[in-house]
Amino acid sequence: MDWLNAMLRFAHFITGIAWIGASFYFNWLENNLNRSVGQKEGISGHLWAVHGGGFYYLEKFKSYPNELPKHLHWFKWEAYFTLITGFALFCVVYYYNASSYLIKAGSDISSFTGILLSIAGMIVGWLIYDNVTKSSLVKKQWLVSLIMLVVVAISAFFYAEIFTPRAMFIQIGAMIGVIMVFNVFFVIMPSQRQLVQACVEKSELGEEIGFRGYIRSRNNNYFTLPVLFIMISNHYPIFYSGENAPIVLIAIFVITVLIRHYFNLEGEKKKGGKRTLALATILTAIAFYALIPEQIKPLKNNRVVSFEEANTIIQNRCATCHSKSPSDDTFTTAPSGFTLDTKQEIINTKDLIYTRTISSDSMPFGNKTEMTQEERQILASWLNSLSKN
Ligand code: HEC
Repeated sequence: MDWLNAMLRFAHFITGIAWIGASFYFNWLENNLNRSVGQKEGISGHLWAVHGGGFYYLEKFKSYPNELPKHLHWFKWEAYFTLITGFALFCVVYYYNASSYLIKAGSDISSFTGILLSIAGMIVGWLIYDNVTKSSLVKKQWLVSLIMLVVVAISAFFYAEIFTPRAMFIQIGAMIGVIMVFNVFFVIMPSQRQLVQACVEKSELGEEIGFRGYIRSRNNNYFTLPVLFIMISNHYPIFYSGENAPIVLIAIFVITVLIRHYFNLEGEKKKGGKRTLALATILTAIAFYALIPEQIKPLKNNRVVSFEEANTIIQNRCATCHSKSPSDDTFTTAPSGFTLDTKQEIINTKDLIYTRTISSDSMPFGNKTEMTQEERQILASWLNSLSKN
């Protein structure tokens, strides 16, 4: 499973970079085309660039070329494979072993129900977005953004009730990612096919067609940063653990959309960019102070905690999984290869232990070994005494 996990993650990463990279490039291109007067017949803008040891010259047509070129490159497999590898990775990490990774400890839904609810969320998210965007609301993009924010917020609180915090984060990321890929598959590709059809038949181009594709591609552009941040947040328990996890997720969504908006305004040389960036910065500061979980405080009485005492806690609460020979029923090899069998291993990894048990309560995993608050305080006292020496 680890091999499969690594291969899928690698593939997901690469296809994702290819897709989002192309999307960033075309957005940049749109903003930077030279559209000043004196363009060639039928051309709306052009761009000169130098890259990788060569000069490039590029032109954008007002509608379509006189003749359809023999080789026309379509950007679509990058997006499709990002979804395919992403969903497969989701299955390997969260659906396989759902009772540990997907379902929150103490939640009474079965793994099967959890998996169904996860997939249902991805479909429902798309249906809501698609219907809103097909309706006349699409003319008011701020309203679409607001509706999507509400969808994200409700989903975050809903999935936080039944899923582990990490799974909840990835679930929301996946829901937005699905919308992005479905936008390509169901709307952007068909409208490009109509464009090609019009070129072959030399027929009038309805403004409709271009507009539909444009809106979806624009929305995808705004979804990119939230999705990327949510995906990497997986590696930082300070974001996903703690009681405020759904609010942290909503804050991440708002802030990263604002950052995208800032780049778009600047790129299009429109006003309001600085204000948008200032707002994003203020919100980040508020989120930093208000939402990040409080660290566990060391024991009040300054009692000196011996290694033996700390080690007893670690062996009882951690080494059931983090050992060369774990006793846990699910984790038969040490998760992440992380072992806490010897004093040397514990001391060498004291910062990691601190991050996972004191700065956040993301370990023990799902608090399966029922570590108490007092044990965390004792561990905190011991870890603090180490850093003083
Ligand atoms: C029920 C099994 C289980 C128990 C008990 C457990 N962990 Fe973990 N631990 C995991 C899993 C699974 C991962 C990998 C997923 C993750 O990083 O969240 C992990 C990852 C970690 C990591 C990250 C390692 C790395 O290299 O990224 C640290 C640090 C850690 N655990 C510390 C602890 C400590 C300290 C305890 C005891 C207080 C503990 N764990 C108890 C299952 C467990």
